[in-house]
Parts: sequence; C-alpha cells; structure tokens
Amino acid sequence: MGLKVSSKYLFYIILSPVGPYYPEGFNPVKIVVSDQYVRATPGGVGEAKTAGNYAACNLAEKQAQAQGFTQVLWLDAVERKYIEEVGSMNIFFVIDDEIVTPQLNGTILPGITRKSVLELARHWDLKTSERRISIDEVLEGLESGRVSEVFGAGTAAVISPVGLLHYRGQSSQVGDGQTGPVAKRFFQHLTAIQYGRENDPFGWVETF
Ligand SMILES: Cc1ncc(COP(=O)(O)O)c(C=O)c1O
Repeated sequence: MGLKVSSKYLFYIILSPVGPYYPEGFNPVKIVVSDQYVRATPGGVGEAKTAGNYAACNLAEKQAQAQGFTQVLWLDAVERKYIEEVGSMNIFFVIDDEIVTPQLNGTILPGITRKSVLELARHWDLKTSERRISIDEVLEGLESGRVSEVFGAGTAAVISPVGLLHYRGQSSQVGDGQTGPVAKRFFQHLTAIQYGRENDPFGWVETF
C-alpha cells in the first residue's frame, strides 16, 4: 500500500441533458452565510473542481437545507469576512450600477459562467468590478438599497437569483425578494446564445 500520484489518467467528458439545478428553478433561492465552516484555505485546492472541495461543504449544506435554505455562501477562511462563492456557483452583486463579483484569489473556482457574465456585461458597457467584498458591505448595501440584486452563476445553476441572505440569525431580503432585471437579462441572453436563438458574438458556441 502506498500513496502516490497516478502516472495514468482517463479523461472523460460526460454530456447529458439537465433539468433545473435547484428546486426553485429560475426563482430566487434563500442562502445562508456560513461563519462556522470554511470551504477552502489559501494554499489549498479551492480553485479546482476537485472532490475534496465538495466534501468540505457537505455538512454545512445539509444543515442549511434542514433549516429551509437552498445553499451556503462561503466566506474567506482567514478573516471570515470576505465573500467567496456558493457551493456550486460564483456570486454576483449589483451595487449601485455596478456588477461586482469577488476577485479570483486561489480559493474560489474560476467558473466559466462567471467569465461569461463578465464578458457579456462588458459587451453591454455595464460597469464591472472583481474585488474583495465583505459580508458587512453587502448587508449594509441591502439595508440602504445600494445592493439591488444578488445572483449566482454556474453551468448547472445557469443564473440563479438570490432572494434572501441569512447571516448570524438574521435574514436580509434582497430587493423585493423577486428576480431582478439584471439577473433576468443575463439568464435570457446566456440561454439564448446556448440554444442558438441569438447570435454568439464571443465565439463560445461550437457546432459539430
Ligand atoms: C464551487 C463551484 N463554484 C462555481 C461553479 C461554477 O463554475 P462553472 O461556471 O464553471 O460551472 C461551480 C460549478 O460546478 C462550482 O462547483
């Protein structure tokens, strides 16, 4: 018995039709912000799609679901202050008129849907920023109205609006709790490009 890196790998691509990833479909999900558990630490493998990252999320997600939440929003492992991502999607905030998402720092997954959302936003001349965002900034922004929308982005989740954030026993509703216009616009255009209903100016679509 020994533990070593394999010298041979099989590379699979599995294609399959998928249904809505969350039971809510394109309706807003309720998300709990974890300050007890962490998903990934600097120097680890948080930015890779590797099984251990998902194992690290399982307990917190199970507890969240038992409390009626769909997913967990992870904070950074060091200060437990800065927003990282959700267990299965990257996260975006509409703050004033800007589309803001946490910067890639090695502990979050550099999702292809995240990249597509940023490219689409720049294509539409929307202001974007990839930076550190603290949970306090988001909660204050929800309170003041500066944060008008929160949504996740991922291959399976597509664009998933967030209607409520729950942190340290307190719930904060996002806007009126309904899907906002920015999330709707990204959802409609991304899926239209994917299904060939709309031109793809980015060269994302491959036809065989
Ligand atoms: C942890 C995590 N973050 C983000 C994403 C979104 O990545 P992508 O857009 O490449 O699917 C996923 C998708 O599975 C994920 O598992």
